Amino acid sequence: MKEYAQVFQGTAFTSKSPKEVQVLQNYLFCINEGGLIEKTVSPEEPEYQEIIEAYLNKDNFHRLSKGQFFLPGFIDLHVHAPQWAQSGTALDIPLNDWLNTYTFPLESKFSDLQFAETVYRDLVSHLLANGTTTVLYFASVHKESSLLLAEICAKKGQRGLVGKVVMDDPNLNPDYYRDESTEAALKDTEEFIMAVKELAKTTKQGVYPVVTPRFIPSCTDEALIGLGELASKYDTHIQSHCSEGDWEHSYVKERCGKNDAFALHDFGLLRDKSVMAHCSFLSDDDAELFAKTGTAIGHCPLSNAYLANGVTPIAHLHSKGIDIGLGTDVSGGFSPSIYDNAKQAVISSRMLEDGVNTYLPTEERGVPNSRITINEAFFFATAGGGESLSLPVGRLQENYAWDVQIIHTSIDTATLPIFNEEEDLLDVFQKIMYLTRPENIREVWVQGELVHSR
Ligand code: GUN
Ligand code: FE
Repeated sequence: MKEYAQVFQGTAFTSKSPKEVQVLQNYLFCINEGGLIEKTVSPEEPEYQEIIEAYLNKDNFHRLSKGQFFLPGFIDLHVHAPQWAQSGTALDIPLNDWLNTYTFPLESKFSDLQFAETVYRDLVSHLLANGTTTVLYFASVHKESSLLLAEICAKKGQRGLVGKVVMDDPNLNPDYYRDESTEAALKDTEEFIMAVKELAKTTKQGVYPVVTPRFIPSCTDEALIGLGELASKYDTHIQSHCSEGDWEHSYVKERCGKNDAFALHDFGLLRDKSVMAHCSFLSDDDAELFAKTGTAIGHCPLSNAYLANGVTPIAHLHSKGIDIGLGTDVSGGFSPSIYDNAKQAVISSRMLEDGVNTYLPTEERGVPNSRITINEAFFFATAGGGESLSLPVGRLQENYAWDVQIIHTSIDTATLPIFNEEEDLLDVFQKIMYLTRPENIREVWVQGELVHSR
């Protein structure tokens, strides 16, 4: 029999399609040295008993106990790592004022490597404890502390995709917080890319450099073009904010004479490895361009409720064939939990469909066909996030990374309301999605390595 690095036995939930969750009841998951799922075995297969007998008394055999389940680790497509320090505060003013009043002063402090280390270590631990195994991060404009974030991900075993933020336009950014010049922004970005690629060689799970213009308003055309060239030269991921709210969307229209999507495309910033946060105001032409270029959307429903001036029509955008994942947008979204954002994605979509102004007649109140189900939100949190990043993560199937969270539904301080031993497992799944708290997340594994336990 083949030697495996680890063998796990238990019941798992994974997406079969955006609308369908598959229950893998009492399966075996055989993990190889590289941390990939080499084989999944159902109890009906002849090998099942053989593998159990061979591994039963070994240290690398892990059998879930009653009430425990595997879920794929969640993928967070949009986190501002420095903003963790202001999470839960400062959500009382519109986006542009919020940036200038609270966010830029905070991010400017990340020139201090000691402060950066304290905040970043705490954030990465928190995200892992919330079941998040892969994260697409904005750091700050500072090259050194951005690299420090990648190093902390590498050390803690999280799959981090990290961007040094570019904001080079002296007319639109404060003097105390911006790149020194366009040339410096591009040079720092290139050095950052090379350093993270070197760092990646020392990790099992991978860390990745990301080309990161903050958003069109903070960058000169020259920087945006240069960043597009760097992304294609080094074949990196790209991230930015796109058509987020009224102010930003109209600013870009005025400056570029087109919507963000077409402007970003002209700058060479839409490609298969691009992930754009928010996209609340995409037109159908913009959406088609996203689908054609393979650009994904990082949907951040909690943040949208505060800063986007509307509900992102995520069901409609998904129907256009765009890859979609979820993001917390810490700290525009106050919560570091993808569970919270999955729930909010469902809630916001219901409110979009029904409408919110009760003074209007029913048929004029909402936007038909806007709702998504918790299964679709789970798909975005897992498989959709993996597809958005073009990485083999987010599904519990062969040739995917063993990135999982082990949920215990029955612990003293946080027991889920499961009163019937025979309860339909798809109902148990929904309870997990709606009611899991960090206490229920007992173990988190990334690429076959244990990175969190409680
Ligand atoms: N647009 C530009 N910067 C930001 C940011 O930090 N957060 C959000 N939500 N939108 C932005
Ligand atoms: Fe953001």
